[in-house]
This record gives sequence, C-alpha cells and structure tokens, in this order.
Amino acid sequence: MQKILVARPIFPDVIERLKQYFDVEWNQGDVLSTDELTRRLADKDGALTAGEPIGSAVFAAAPRLRVVSNMAVGYNNFDMDDFDAANVVCTDTADVLNESTADFGWALMMAAARRIAESEHWLRAGKWQKWAYDSFLGSDLYGSTLGVIGMGRIGQALARRAKGFNMQVIYHNRSRVAPEIEAELNAEYVSKQDLLRRADHVVLVLPYTQENHHTMGAAEFALMKPTATLTNIARGGIVDDAALVEALRSKQIAAAGLDVFEGEPHLNQDLLSVPNIVLTAHIASATEATRRAMANLAADNLIAGLGEGPRAGRPPNPINPGVIGKARS
Ligand code: DGY
Repeated sequence: MQKILVARPIFPDVIERLKQYFDVEWNQGDVLSTDELTRRLADKDGALTAGEPIGSAVFAAAPRLRVVSNMAVGYNNFDMDDFDAANVVCTDTADVLNESTADFGWALMMAAARRIAESEHWLRAGKWQKWAYDSFLGSDLYGSTLGVIGMGRIGQALARRAKGFNMQVIYHNRSRVAPEIEAELNAEYVSKQDLLRRADHVVLVLPYTQENHHTMGAAEFALMKPTATLTNIARGGIVDDAALVEALRSKQIAAAGLDVFEGEPHLNQDLLSVPNIVLTAHIASATEATRRAMANLAADNLIAGLGEGPRAGRPPNPINPGVIGKARS
C-alpha cells in the first residue's frame, strides 16, 4: 500500500475513504513546522495539505513523493517551479467553493459598509442609550458601484450577485474575460486606477503572487473615495495591512472587511484597534457543505493522482497536468 500524510485535521469520514486506498498517517494536532512536515514526508508517496509551504527542500528529503493535494483553491504556499522540476503533481480544490466564498464576500462587504460589527461591539459594551439620527452612518450598496479586482470564477460569482442590488459592476483583471461573461455580468473592464477612483466598494478576489504583493497600498488608498470600502477575501499580502490601518484611521477610506491577513494567524496588532474594520479568521469558504466538498475533492485528487480509484491517473483538479505520468526527479 502507498503511504500518505494528511497534514491537518479534516473530516474523519474522509480519512476513512483515504484508508481504503492508502496507509494513512494523520496529523490531528497543531500545524506542522516545515522541518516536521519534511521529516514526516520522507517515506510518503502523497500528501494532503492546507497551506503548508512546500518546495525543493521537501522534495529532496522525500524521494517517493509524487502528489500533493492542497485543500484550498489558492496554492501560493507551493513553489510551482520546484513542483515542475521534481515532477510532483499538485492539485487544488477550485470551483466547489465559488458560491460560498462569493456569499461571504458580500457578507463582509455589507458588514463593513453598514458598520455592523462596530455597532454590535458598541451595543454589547452597554453604550446604547437612545436612537440617534447619526448613529453608525454607513454607505449604501444598492445602486452603488462594485469594483472587483480579480475576475476569476469567485470574482464572477461575486459580481453575479450585484444584479439584485442594482449595482454597476466594474472590474480589473490580468486579462479581460470573455465578452459573453462581461455581457452576462454587465461588467465593464477598467484599469486598476480607474476602478479605485470610481468604485464605492472594492473587493479583492485575485490570487497571491509576488507581482500582486501589496496590490493595495498607500498609493492605492489615496485614489479611493473617502466613502468607499475595501474587502479582501483573497490572500494576505495583497493588502499592505499597515497602510490600510493608516487609511482607515485618517478616514481616507470609510471601512474595510478582511478575512485574510499578512502573516496570519499572527495579525498586525494595529488592526485590532481600528473601529471601522470587520475582521474574520479566514473563513470565506467555511460552510459545512463547502468544506466537506473541498475535503472530498482533495481526497479524490490524491486517490486519482496516485493511480488509485475509478479516475486512476486523472486527478480532477491538477495545477500542473504536464507532469502527470512522468517519473519523479
Ligand atoms: C482557499 O481555498 O484558498 C481558501 O482561502 C482556504 O484556504
């Protein structure tokens, strides 16, 4: 039997499925350090991960490792050049989380725009004495302009929901999406600068890459409207968190919603003292049904990638399909 490592706690029934095909080592404890992960992968053929950094140092110590299945759509934790050089197949869980993540983007954007978290903290602190005409005045979503940066599948799902709010949709992406998608979403392709100047609500849904590091920093906040909000459901590092704190404190922008952070789970502590921000703990895809779908898809990828099960040799979501079937190097 081939050996695999499941690097994180996941649904026990998914572990049972994996045990039908593999000798499974399951880490049910804390996140493994890179050294510990490397040590445990030394005799493994495959791994199921969720954000652990993996590259050439791991491959050098794990000569049998052929498939790494990440339980996430984002895979910026992997060095893809190293995966390709070592002929290690890498897979993700794209698509099954699109709708839940788009729902959550709206939840965060609405909470930021309408100051829901701020009002709740104030109420819980016993500060509510009377109704007042100017309590927690926010900005409208209905009839406003939504600016989506990153128009992949999650960005499109997010934009599709804007119809019900009668919003104008503008977007920026590495490349324009197909005309029929633009038409369906009633979305206008604009430059990043144009988007930042025009949008009432900016949502980030782009993958993290070195080029996207600090896509939103001081210069970008300076372009935004003072009534605008920023929502990040993509990855930490896309926003310069320190610059965001300054933009929120100085009211350069009205509010923000962040589900992801630079260096998470360790946050820039200044974020905690800014009132006009909603903070959540990387939970955009966290519904029972979606996390189950992600775990099962990650298992399917590993089973098929390691040549087992009904799709042997054809994992559903390969990121580097060109290396499938090649000998490990
Ligand atoms: C993803 O799927 O990339 C989510 O952010 C969970 O990591």
